[in-house]
Formats: sequence, structure tokens, C-alpha cells
Amino acid sequence: MLMAGVDVGFGFTKASDGESCVLFKSIVGEAQPRALNDEFFSGQSLAGSHLTVDGRSYFIGELAESESRVRQFTLDQAQMVANQFRLLALAGLTRVVPSRVPLNVITGLPVGYYMEFKDRLSETLMGEHELIVHEGGERKDVTLTVNRVKVIPQPYGSLVDYLFRGDGTLLRQDVARQKIGIIDIGFKTTDFTVCRELRHSERGSRTTETGMAKAFQFIAETLREMSGVNVEIYRLYDAVREGSIKVRGAEYDIAKVKEEVFSRLAAAVVSDMERIWVDDWDLDMVLLAGGGGESLYEYIKPMVRGEIALLETQDDPRLANVVGYVKYGRYFFDGSPGNVDATEG
Ligand SMILES: Nc1ncnc2c1ncn2[C@@H]1O[C@H](COP(=O)(O)OP(=O)(O)OP(=O)(O)O)[C@@H](O)[C@H]1O
Ligand SMILES: [Mg+2]
Repeated sequence: MLMAGVDVGFGFTKASDGESCVLFKSIVGEAQPRALNDEFFSGQSLAGSHLTVDGRSYFIGELAESESRVRQFTLDQAQMVANQFRLLALAGLTRVVPSRVPLNVITGLPVGYYMEFKDRLSETLMGEHELIVHEGGERKDVTLTVNRVKVIPQPYGSLVDYLFRGDGTLLRQDVARQKIGIIDIGFKTTDFTVCRELRHSERGSRTTETGMAKAFQFIAETLREMSGVNVEIYRLYDAVREGSIKVRGAEYDIAKVKEEVFSRLAAAVVSDMERIWVDDWDLDMVLLAGGGGESLYEYIKPMVRGEIALLETQDDPRLANVVGYVKYGRYFFDGSPGNVDATEG
């Protein structure tokens, strides 16, 4: 059975079939009629998709960011599940799986919202989805046939990616027997999870709102004071990485404010960690994951005693969860030796 993972984050949507991965910003916008249908230069086209779903046309990802007049971008979990999740997930899946081939899908939720929304997510994805994909001036009818859905807490994707091989068998037997804490720092949320001998610990699992968006919001405010222009936070990634931004022709240096807010954010994550894991002083190792995990690793590392590692198995740290989802699918749906859950849905 074909397997695909989709990780719909507040910052980025990622999808993978285990071979290829796609990643685009989690933004949904109204499709705009194009006056000019030709590309004049053969440069790279924008990441994202143009889809028609249930008779309505949408721009998704970077395409929506740059072309849609009306854009939806949310930092609210209930709104994400109700409005954007389906479109973002379908946009991701159509890029990695063929039409009409039945597939099993693995997706995730922040640990703190897992129980509340997991059934809704499954229902949203199950069954046949008829859509039109618009690409290079052409329309392609696509039917996505979702056979089964498994929803897991998001940071488990990263853990599975670290512990398992691509075929769903265990790679790091020794680590799997240990007690591991995972911190997945995303755009909006930071997820804390503790896992001992692959058993989930409810006590050590929590979702906080301390994501990278906090830092971006602060930088955007500073920028507004300096330039008088309101820059949307999802347009700040590249500027923050480079340490400077051009607004209406003037160059602004944001390296210092970045340094300051990143180290404050790192301190907030570490203090949340100490509070949430106050009884879990016997952790063998802490794994840092998510796109924010990479950005904050150098700041967090000196603040933590004991072993701490950055999950670096992928070229892009944001992809660890979705790559782990596919591995988990192979383990869960295909079944591996000793997997008693293999026949459950
Ligand atoms: N090339 C990059 N472009 C943009 N952001 C990047 C890049 N590399 C790392 N990042 C960091 O990754 C963060 C997003 O991480 P990630 O994709 O894990 O979040 P998310 O899953 O969308 O959010 P959440 O888990 O809160 O829903 C950004 O805020 C940024 O700090
Ligand atoms: Mg995430």
C-alpha cells in the first residue's frame, strides 16, 4: 500500500511519500484570475499550488503569499483544523502521490491538541477527494483516494525518524530502551514529549505557545518602529536568517535584535522544560527538533545540563516529523515483527 505523511504546521506544510518531500508555507489564498498567463523568464516557479476543491479555487503556499489579495494564515488550532487543514494537506499530498492510487496517510497534531482533534483530522482526510490541479496553464483532474489515516502527536514523527529505518524497522535499539525527552520547536508551538522504552508519558507531554513566531513578532514590531511599515511575520524568515531587510528602499540591520530575541526565546523554552519535566530528572537524552530547534540549538545547548542533541537526519530540519510519519506508517500499517497494532486503524 502506498504511504504518505503530511505535517501541517502553523508555519509550513510538509508532505512526503518516503522518497520525495515538498515544503511550502501554510498560507491559503483566493485564486486570482491571471491577466498574463505566460511565464516570461524560465526561472524557478513559486513553491505552492493552485487547486480547485469543491468548486472553489485557491492559491496555496508561496503562490498565495505573493499573488492572492485575500489570504488566510492562522495561529489558532481550532481554526486550522476547521478551515485550512484540508486544503493544505491536499495540496501537499497531490505533490507527492499519484491520482487514484489508494493510500494510507499519517499525520499529526501538537501533543496538547491531540485528543481533542485527532478524530476530526482522520474524518477530514478519509475517502475520495476530487480536485483540479492547475499547473503551467493546464488543468489536471486528480482523485486522491485515502484508504486509512493514522494521527500521531507531532514530535513522535521526529522521534521515529531518529530511531527507525526507512522500512519501519528499529535502527537504534539501545536508544529506544532509554528515556528520551523531545522538544519540537515550531513556528507557533513548542511540543514537549517524554518517551521511555517507546512508551508515551502523559506527564511529560505538553504544548506551549512559545514558538518562533514570538521572536518574529518582536522583530516585526522593532521593524515597524524603525521603518513605519508593518511587515507580516511570515515574510520575515529570510531577513531574519540574513540579519537585514530592505523596506521601501532602505536597508535595516536586524542582526542585533535577532540575537537578543533568540536568546530570550531559548531561555523561555529551557524554563518551560524545567517546569514541565520537573519530575523527569532521569532523562537519558534530550532531542531538539523542528525548524525552530535548529535556529535555537546554539542558544539552548549551553543552558541545559546533560546530553542534548539536534535532530539532523534531514537536509532541512523542518522535514524530520514528516519523514518520521512515513517510517511510522511502514511500521504501523505494514507491520513489523512484534507489532501487535498492525491491524488496527
Ligand atoms: N529555510 C528556512 N526557511 C524558513 N524558516 C526556517 C528555515 N530553516 C529553519 N527555519 C525555521 O523553522 C521554523 C519553522 O519550523 P517548523 O516547520 O518545524 O514549524 P511548523 O511545524 O510549521 O510550526 P508548528 O509546529 O508550530 O505548527 C521557522 O520559524 C524558522 O525559524
Ligand atoms: Mg511542527
